Amino acid sequence: MGGAKARDAAQKPRIIFLGPPGAGKGTQAGRLAAERGLVRISTGDMLRQAIAEGTPLGKQAAPIMEKGQLVPDELLIAMIRERIAREDCRGGYILDGFPRTLPQVRGLEAMTGTEGFFVFDVEVPRDVLLRRLSGRRWCPKCQATYHVQTSPPTRAGVCDWCSTALVQREDDKEAVVRKRLAEYDERTEPLVAYYSDRPEFHRVNGDRPADVVLAELQQLLGDER
Ligand code: AP5
Repeated sequence: MGGAKARDAAQKPRIIFLGPPGAGKGTQAGRLAAERGLVRISTGDMLRQAIAEGTPLGKQAAPIMEKGQLVPDELLIAMIRERIAREDCRGGYILDGFPRTLPQVRGLEAMTGTEGFFVFDVEVPRDVLLRRLSGRRWCPKCQATYHVQTSPPTRAGVCDWCSTALVQREDDKEAVVRKRLAEYDERTEPLVAYYSDRPEFHRVNGDRPADVVLAELQQLLGDER
């Protein structure tokens, strides 16, 4: 990974978010995407959308996600290959939830080469993650995320953006959360070591107010727009 200098000066950044469930990847990816005009690609949202639409991918993914396990690499790699080939990704993009395994890293590098990604590893203590996930509420229509205590919607139980009734994600139930954390430890945490000697790898303390985390990410990205 050669760093910013290796990129075309006119190219917007490509960003990978690492971090366990509940670290705030989706929150920060959404805000950065809005502020920098980048496309946010959330593999979790794409899979939930496929489930809601009853597509073949959704039917395959649903029972796996319900158990808190990772969906097979080949399905995710194909999904990302198709998504980042679209025109809107020419202006830079944020990968929220991909790659999550070493085979997914290799799949991504086969598409993009190894250079030119900022990698943010968002770190949050385990007890905080559990509190965040148990209080998270989610809009099944526009995918906005809330927390019953720390970022509640204006009207309880209703999305601020599209007035849809908010739900608790099935995989935010405690037993499934524990399985997701175990999957993270076993299969995704090794990616931190893989990326950590790259010049644009940054550990970010995610256990701070979301605005403070965002300000640090903006500073790390600098003028790359
Ligand atoms: P996915 O949807 O990607 O879930 P995840 O990685 O487990 O991440 P989360 O969405 O739970 O958390 P987050 O870090 O985005 O935190 P958020 O910002 O929401 O994946 C779901 C499933 O899909 C996987 O288990 C797997 O089955 C499958 N899948 C997806 N990608 C895959 C892949 N690549 N390979 C294989 N399978 C894949 O924040 C959480 C809560 O905390 C919210 O309530 C939020 O309001 C609050 N919060 C956020 N930031 C702060 C802050 N700074 N302070 C206080 N509260 C905060």
